[in-house]
Amino acid sequence: MLTNADLEKILDTSDEWITTRTGMKRRHIAAPDEATSDLAIAAARAALGRASLRPKDVDCYIVATVTPDFAFPATGCIVASKLGVAGKPAFDIGIACSGFIYGLTVVASLIRAGVYKRVMLIGAETLSKLVNYEDRSTAILFGDGAGAVILEQSDVDSFLASDLGSDGTTPETLYLPAGGSRTPVTPAALAAHQDKIHMAGREVFKFAVNRMVESSRTALARAQLSPADVSYLIPHQANRRIIDAAAQRLEMPAEKVIVNIQEYGNTSAASIPLALSEAELDGKLRRDDLIVFTAFGAGLSWGAVAWRWAA
Ligand code: ACO
Repeated sequence: MLTNADLEKILDTSDEWITTRTGMKRRHIAAPDEATSDLAIAAARAALGRASLRPKDVDCYIVATVTPDFAFPATGCIVASKLGVAGKPAFDIGIACSGFIYGLTVVASLIRAGVYKRVMLIGAETLSKLVNYEDRSTAILFGDGAGAVILEQSDVDSFLASDLGSDGTTPETLYLPAGGSRTPVTPAALAAHQDKIHMAGREVFKFAVNRMVESSRTALARAQLSPADVSYLIPHQANRRIIDAAAQRLEMPAEKVIVNIQEYGNTSAASIPLALSEAELDGKLRRDDLIVFTAFGAGLSWGAVAWRWAA
Protein backbone atom coordinates (compact mmCIF):
# COMPACT_ATOMS: atom_id res chain seq x y z
CA MET A 1 0.00 0.00 0.00
CA LEU A 2 1.26 3.49 -0.88
CA THR A 3 -0.74 6.29 0.76
CA ASN A 4 -0.68 10.01 0.11
CA ALA A 5 1.09 10.35 3.49
CA ASP A 6 3.81 7.97 2.23
CA LEU A 7 4.24 10.10 -0.91
CA GLU A 8 4.48 13.26 1.21
CA LYS A 9 7.60 11.74 2.79
CA ILE A 10 9.43 11.17 -0.51
CA LEU A 11 8.16 13.99 -2.75
CA ASP A 12 7.36 17.69 -2.65
CA THR A 13 3.59 17.05 -2.55
CA SER A 14 0.70 16.92 -0.10
CA ASP A 15 -2.35 14.81 0.68
CA GLU A 16 -4.44 17.93 0.06
CA TRP A 17 -2.96 18.48 -3.46
CA ILE A 18 -3.31 14.84 -4.47
CA THR A 19 -6.83 14.51 -3.09
CA THR A 20 -8.22 17.67 -4.68
CA ARG A 21 -6.40 17.23 -8.04
CA THR A 22 -6.93 13.47 -8.47
CA GLY A 23 -9.29 12.00 -5.83
CA MET A 24 -6.64 9.42 -4.96
CA LYS A 25 -5.82 8.37 -1.38
CA ARG A 26 -4.03 5.02 -1.69
CA ARG A 27 -2.49 2.69 -4.28
CA HIS A 28 -1.80 -1.02 -3.94
CA ILE A 29 1.81 -1.87 -4.83
CA ALA A 30 3.07 -5.29 -5.92
CA ALA A 31 5.94 -6.85 -3.96
CA PRO A 32 9.40 -6.63 -5.59
CA ASP A 33 9.20 -10.30 -6.62
CA GLU A 34 5.59 -10.06 -7.90
CA ALA A 35 5.09 -9.70 -11.66
CA THR A 36 1.95 -8.84 -13.61
CA SER A 37 1.21 -12.53 -14.29
CA ASP A 38 1.10 -13.18 -10.52
CA LEU A 39 -1.63 -10.56 -10.09
CA ALA A 40 -3.40 -11.79 -13.22
CA ILE A 41 -3.44 -15.38 -11.96
CA ALA A 42 -4.95 -14.31 -8.61
CA ALA A 43 -7.70 -12.41 -10.45
CA ALA A 44 -8.24 -15.35 -12.84
CA ARG A 45 -8.61 -17.80 -9.93
CA ALA A 46 -11.08 -15.48 -8.17
CA ALA A 47 -13.19 -15.17 -11.34
CA LEU A 48 -13.14 -18.93 -11.95
CA GLY A 49 -14.18 -19.49 -8.33
CA ARG A 50 -17.09 -17.07 -8.57
CA ALA A 51 -18.26 -18.69 -11.81
CA SER A 52 -17.73 -22.25 -10.45
CA LEU A 53 -15.54 -23.07 -13.44
CA ARG A 54 -12.19 -24.82 -13.85
CA PRO A 55 -9.33 -23.38 -15.94
CA LYS A 56 -9.92 -26.04 -18.60
CA ASP A 57 -13.53 -24.80 -19.05
CA VAL A 58 -12.19 -21.58 -20.59
CA ASP A 59 -11.27 -21.77 -24.30
CA CYS A 60 -8.91 -18.77 -24.53
CA TYR A 61 -7.03 -16.46 -22.15
CA ILE A 62 -6.35 -12.79 -22.91
CA VAL A 63 -4.40 -10.35 -20.72
CA ALA A 64 -4.78 -6.61 -21.30
CA THR A 65 -1.62 -4.98 -19.97
CA VAL A 66 1.14 -2.46 -20.64
CA THR A 67 3.31 -3.97 -17.94
CA PRO A 68 3.86 -7.51 -19.24
CA ASP A 69 6.27 -9.79 -17.37
CA PHE A 70 8.58 -9.58 -20.43
CA ALA A 71 8.48 -7.74 -23.78
CA PHE A 72 7.87 -11.29 -25.00
CA PRO A 73 6.50 -13.92 -24.52
CA ALA A 74 2.96 -12.72 -23.91
CA THR A 75 1.90 -12.67 -20.27
CA GLY A 76 -1.27 -14.54 -21.29
CA CYS A 77 0.85 -17.61 -22.13
CA ILE A 78 2.43 -17.57 -18.66
CA VAL A 79 -0.96 -17.12 -16.99
CA ALA A 80 -2.61 -20.00 -18.86
CA SER A 81 0.29 -22.35 -18.17
CA LYS A 82 0.42 -21.50 -14.46
CA LEU A 83 -3.32 -22.14 -14.29
CA GLY A 84 -2.50 -25.63 -15.54
CA VAL A 85 -3.86 -25.25 -19.07
CA ALA A 86 -0.72 -24.99 -21.23
CA GLY A 87 -1.85 -25.59 -24.80
CA LYS A 88 -4.83 -23.23 -24.67
CA PRO A 89 -4.66 -20.11 -26.89
CA ALA A 90 -3.46 -17.09 -24.94
CA PHE A 91 -2.28 -13.62 -25.88
CA ASP A 92 -1.96 -10.01 -24.69
CA ILE A 93 -3.63 -6.78 -25.70
CA GLY A 94 -1.32 -3.78 -25.22
CA ILE A 95 -3.26 -0.57 -25.63
CA ALA A 96 -2.68 0.91 -22.20
CA CYS A 97 -5.68 2.09 -20.23
CA SER A 98 -8.04 1.36 -23.14
CA GLY A 99 -7.04 -2.32 -22.97
CA PHE A 100 -10.16 -3.60 -21.27
CA ILE A 101 -12.46 -1.75 -23.70
CA TYR A 102 -10.57 -3.06 -26.74
CA GLY A 103 -10.45 -6.48 -25.05
CA LEU A 104 -14.22 -6.64 -24.50
CA THR A 105 -14.73 -5.82 -28.18
CA VAL A 106 -12.26 -8.51 -29.32
CA VAL A 107 -13.72 -11.13 -26.99
CA ALA A 108 -17.33 -10.39 -27.94
CA SER A 109 -16.35 -10.63 -31.62
CA LEU A 110 -14.56 -13.97 -31.11
CA ILE A 111 -17.60 -15.38 -29.33
CA ARG A 112 -20.11 -13.97 -31.83
CA ALA A 113 -18.06 -15.43 -34.70
CA GLY A 114 -18.21 -18.84 -33.03
CA VAL A 115 -14.42 -19.11 -32.65
CA TYR A 116 -14.63 -19.69 -28.88
CA LYS A 117 -17.50 -20.34 -26.48
CA ARG A 118 -15.86 -19.05 -23.32
CA VAL A 119 -13.02 -16.52 -23.01
CA MET A 120 -11.29 -15.00 -19.98
CA LEU A 121 -10.27 -11.35 -20.22
CA ILE A 122 -7.89 -10.15 -17.52
CA GLY A 123 -6.75 -6.56 -16.98
CA ALA A 124 -3.52 -6.66 -14.97
CA GLU A 125 -0.80 -4.12 -14.29
CA THR A 126 2.26 -3.49 -12.14
CA LEU A 127 2.69 0.17 -13.08
CA SER A 128 4.70 0.83 -9.90
CA LYS A 129 7.62 -0.85 -11.68
CA LEU A 130 7.53 1.85 -14.40
CA VAL A 131 7.09 4.88 -12.17
CA ASN A 132 9.88 7.34 -11.44
CA TYR A 133 9.30 8.03 -7.75
CA GLU A 134 11.30 11.26 -8.08
CA ASP A 135 8.74 12.73 -10.51
CA ARG A 136 5.80 14.06 -8.50
CA SER A 137 3.65 14.64 -11.59
CA THR A 138 3.43 10.90 -12.33
CA ALA A 139 4.47 9.12 -9.10
CA ILE A 140 1.23 10.00 -7.34
CA LEU A 141 -1.02 8.62 -10.06
CA PHE A 142 -0.29 4.96 -10.66
CA GLY A 143 -0.91 1.73 -8.78
CA ASP A 144 -0.95 -2.03 -9.31
CA GLY A 145 -3.89 -4.41 -9.58
CA ALA A 146 -5.77 -6.97 -11.63
CA GLY A 147 -9.36 -7.84 -12.46
CA ALA A 148 -10.83 -10.60 -14.61
CA VAL A 149 -14.07 -11.43 -16.38
CA ILE A 150 -15.24 -14.61 -18.08
CA LEU A 151 -17.46 -14.12 -21.12
CA GLU A 152 -19.44 -16.93 -22.66
CA GLN A 153 -21.79 -17.61 -25.53
CA SER A 154 -25.43 -17.09 -24.59
CA ASP A 155 -28.85 -16.60 -26.17
CA VAL A 156 -28.87 -13.08 -24.77
CA ASP A 157 -26.14 -10.89 -26.28
CA SER A 158 -24.75 -8.60 -23.57
CA PHE A 159 -22.40 -6.79 -25.94
CA LEU A 160 -24.63 -4.11 -27.48
CA ALA A 161 -22.09 -1.88 -29.24
CA SER A 162 -18.65 -0.38 -28.98
CA ASP A 163 -16.69 2.58 -30.23
CA LEU A 164 -12.89 2.45 -30.44
CA GLY A 165 -10.36 5.05 -31.54
CA SER A 166 -6.67 5.89 -31.63
CA ASP A 167 -4.31 8.70 -32.59
CA GLY A 168 -0.60 7.89 -32.61
CA THR A 169 0.52 11.27 -33.96
CA THR A 170 2.24 12.25 -30.71
CA PRO A 171 3.12 9.06 -28.79
CA GLU A 172 5.32 11.11 -26.46
CA THR A 173 2.22 12.61 -24.82
CA LEU A 174 2.21 9.51 -22.63
CA TYR A 175 4.89 6.87 -23.11
CA LEU A 176 7.80 4.82 -21.92
CA PRO A 177 10.65 6.30 -23.96
CA ALA A 178 13.26 3.53 -23.70
CA GLY A 179 13.10 -0.23 -23.87
CA GLY A 180 11.43 -0.63 -27.24
CA SER A 181 12.92 -0.86 -30.75
CA ARG A 182 12.94 2.96 -31.16
CA THR A 183 15.23 3.60 -28.18
CA PRO A 184 16.97 0.63 -26.62
CA VAL A 185 17.94 0.77 -22.95
CA THR A 186 21.41 2.23 -22.54
CA PRO A 187 23.21 3.52 -19.44
CA ALA A 188 22.45 7.09 -20.63
CA ALA A 189 18.75 6.29 -21.08
CA LEU A 190 18.61 4.75 -17.61
CA ALA A 191 20.34 7.77 -16.08
CA ALA A 192 17.68 10.01 -17.66
CA HIS A 193 14.84 7.77 -16.33
CA GLN A 194 13.86 6.99 -19.92
CA ASP A 195 12.75 3.54 -18.77
CA LYS A 196 9.95 5.15 -16.70
CA ILE A 197 6.58 6.70 -17.55
CA HIS A 198 6.69 10.17 -19.15
CA MET A 199 3.48 12.13 -19.48
CA ALA A 200 2.16 15.54 -20.51
CA GLY A 201 -0.58 15.50 -17.87
CA ARG A 202 -2.54 18.56 -18.98
CA GLU A 203 -2.68 17.35 -22.61
CA VAL A 204 -3.95 13.94 -21.51
CA PHE A 205 -6.53 15.55 -19.23
CA LYS A 206 -8.05 17.69 -21.99
CA PHE A 207 -8.31 14.84 -24.46
CA ALA A 208 -9.62 12.37 -21.85
CA VAL A 209 -12.90 14.06 -21.03
CA ASN A 210 -13.83 14.79 -24.65
CA ARG A 211 -13.01 11.31 -25.89
CA MET A 212 -14.79 9.43 -23.11
CA VAL A 213 -17.93 11.52 -23.59
CA GLU A 214 -17.95 11.27 -27.41
CA SER A 215 -17.15 7.56 -27.37
CA SER A 216 -19.85 6.78 -24.79
CA ARG A 217 -22.42 8.69 -26.83
CA THR A 218 -21.35 6.94 -30.04
CA ALA A 219 -21.49 3.44 -28.53
CA LEU A 220 -24.92 4.17 -27.05
CA ALA A 221 -26.21 5.62 -30.34
CA ARG A 222 -25.01 2.48 -32.17
CA ALA A 223 -27.16 0.48 -29.75
CA GLN A 224 -30.04 2.94 -30.29
CA LEU A 225 -29.82 4.05 -26.68
CA SER A 226 -29.05 7.33 -24.93
CA PRO A 227 -27.21 8.32 -21.73
CA ALA A 228 -30.60 8.54 -19.97
CA ASP A 229 -31.00 4.74 -20.42
CA VAL A 230 -27.73 3.95 -18.61
CA SER A 231 -27.85 2.25 -15.20
CA TYR A 232 -24.11 2.58 -14.49
CA LEU A 233 -21.13 4.34 -16.01
CA ILE A 234 -17.93 2.43 -15.23
CA PRO A 235 -15.10 4.68 -16.42
CA HIS A 236 -11.36 4.15 -16.40
CA GLN A 237 -10.12 5.44 -13.03
CA ALA A 238 -7.41 7.95 -13.99
CA ASN A 239 -8.46 11.12 -12.20
CA ARG A 240 -11.60 11.90 -10.17
CA ARG A 241 -11.91 15.27 -11.93
CA ILE A 242 -11.85 13.58 -15.36
CA ILE A 243 -14.54 11.13 -14.23
CA ASP A 244 -16.72 13.87 -12.73
CA ALA A 245 -16.41 16.11 -15.81
CA ALA A 246 -17.31 13.24 -18.17
CA ALA A 247 -20.23 12.16 -15.98
CA GLN A 248 -21.50 15.72 -15.82
CA ARG A 249 -21.42 16.10 -19.60
CA LEU A 250 -23.24 12.79 -19.97
CA GLU A 251 -25.76 14.04 -17.37
CA MET A 252 -25.07 11.02 -15.17
CA PRO A 253 -25.90 11.52 -11.48
CA ALA A 254 -23.17 10.50 -9.01
CA GLU A 255 -25.05 7.38 -7.85
CA LYS A 256 -24.79 5.96 -11.39
CA VAL A 257 -21.02 6.40 -11.64
CA ILE A 258 -18.75 3.69 -10.20
CA VAL A 259 -15.65 5.23 -8.62
CA ASN A 260 -12.96 3.46 -6.58
CA ILE A 261 -9.97 5.63 -7.56
CA GLN A 262 -9.42 6.62 -3.91
CA GLU A 263 -8.39 3.05 -3.14
CA TYR A 264 -6.28 2.04 -6.16
CA GLY A 265 -5.13 5.10 -8.12
CA ASN A 266 -4.75 4.56 -11.87
CA THR A 267 -4.24 0.85 -12.60
CA SER A 268 -4.50 1.24 -16.40
CA ALA A 269 -6.09 -1.84 -18.03
CA ALA A 270 -7.01 -3.24 -14.61
CA SER A 271 -9.08 -0.30 -13.45
CA ILE A 272 -12.39 -1.10 -15.16
CA PRO A 273 -12.50 -4.83 -14.25
CA LEU A 274 -11.54 -3.88 -10.67
CA ALA A 275 -14.38 -1.35 -10.50
CA LEU A 276 -16.81 -3.80 -12.13
CA SER A 277 -15.86 -6.54 -9.70
CA GLU A 278 -16.37 -4.27 -6.70
CA ALA A 279 -19.73 -3.04 -8.01
CA GLU A 280 -20.87 -6.64 -8.41
CA LEU A 281 -19.60 -7.67 -4.96
CA ASP A 282 -21.37 -4.64 -3.46
CA GLY A 283 -24.65 -5.98 -4.94
CA LYS A 284 -25.13 -2.90 -7.13
CA LEU A 285 -25.67 -4.67 -10.45
CA ARG A 286 -29.07 -6.08 -11.43
CA ARG A 287 -29.93 -8.30 -14.38
CA ASP A 288 -30.62 -6.20 -17.52
CA ASP A 289 -28.81 -3.14 -16.17
CA LEU A 290 -27.28 -1.11 -19.00
CA ILE A 291 -23.60 -0.43 -18.30
CA VAL A 292 -21.31 1.88 -20.24
CA PHE A 293 -17.61 1.15 -19.87
CA THR A 294 -15.33 3.88 -21.17
CA ALA A 295 -11.58 4.53 -21.13
CA PHE A 296 -8.75 6.54 -22.62
CA GLY A 297 -5.01 6.22 -22.43
CA ALA A 298 -1.66 6.07 -24.11
CA GLY A 299 -1.70 5.81 -27.88
CA LEU A 300 -3.49 8.03 -27.61
CA SER A 301 -6.37 5.60 -27.50
CA TRP A 302 -9.96 5.58 -26.30
CA GLY A 303 -13.22 3.70 -26.45
CA ALA A 304 -16.56 2.79 -24.93
CA VAL A 305 -18.70 -0.33 -24.77
CA ALA A 306 -22.45 -0.49 -24.09
CA TRP A 307 -23.18 -3.66 -22.17
CA ARG A 308 -26.37 -5.37 -20.91
CA TRP A 309 -25.61 -7.02 -17.56
CA ALA A 310 -26.88 -10.60 -17.77
CA ALA A 311 -25.10 -12.32 -14.88
N1 ACO B 1 2.11 17.73 -5.83
C1 ACO B 1 2.14 19.07 -5.77
N2 ACO B 1 2.19 19.86 -6.87
C2 ACO B 1 2.23 19.24 -8.07
C3 ACO B 1 2.22 17.85 -8.20
C4 ACO B 1 2.16 17.07 -7.02
N3 ACO B 1 2.12 15.73 -7.03
N4 ACO B 1 2.27 17.52 -9.52
C5 ACO B 1 2.32 18.68 -10.19
N5 ACO B 1 2.29 19.72 -9.31
C6 ACO B 1 2.34 21.15 -9.60
C7 ACO B 1 2.92 21.48 -10.95
O1 ACO B 1 4.33 21.54 -10.88
C8 ACO B 1 2.30 22.82 -11.26
O2 ACO B 1 3.00 23.80 -10.59
P1 ACO B 1 3.26 25.22 -11.29
O3 ACO B 1 1.88 25.81 -11.50
O4 ACO B 1 4.09 25.95 -10.28
O5 ACO B 1 3.98 24.92 -12.57
C9 ACO B 1 0.92 22.73 -10.61
O6 ACO B 1 1.00 21.65 -9.65
C10 ACO B 1 -0.19 22.45 -11.59
O7 ACO B 1 0.23 21.38 -12.43
P2 ACO B 1 -0.74 20.78 -13.53
O8 ACO B 1 0.02 19.74 -14.30
O9 ACO B 1 -1.39 21.89 -14.29
O10 ACO B 1 -1.82 20.11 -12.60
P3 ACO B 1 -3.18 19.47 -13.03
O11 ACO B 1 -4.28 20.09 -12.29
O12 ACO B 1 -3.29 19.36 -14.53
O13 ACO B 1 -3.03 18.00 -12.46
C11 ACO B 1 -2.55 15.79 -13.24
C12 ACO B 1 -1.99 17.16 -12.89
C13 ACO B 1 -3.17 15.20 -11.96
C14 ACO B 1 -1.43 14.90 -13.74
C15 ACO B 1 -3.66 15.95 -14.32
O14 ACO B 1 -3.17 16.72 -15.39
C16 ACO B 1 -4.13 14.63 -14.86
O15 ACO B 1 -4.72 13.83 -14.16
N6 ACO B 1 -3.93 14.37 -16.18
C17 ACO B 1 -4.36 13.14 -16.78
C18 ACO B 1 -3.33 12.10 -16.52
C19 ACO B 1 -3.82 10.71 -16.85
O16 ACO B 1 -4.98 10.42 -16.75
N7 ACO B 1 -2.88 9.86 -17.22
C20 ACO B 1 -3.11 8.48 -17.39
C21 ACO B 1 -3.68 8.15 -18.71
S1 ACO B 1 -4.06 6.47 -18.76
C22 ACO B 1 -2.74 5.50 -19.34
O17 ACO B 1 -2.68 5.16 -20.51
C23 ACO B 1 -1.69 5.04 -18.38
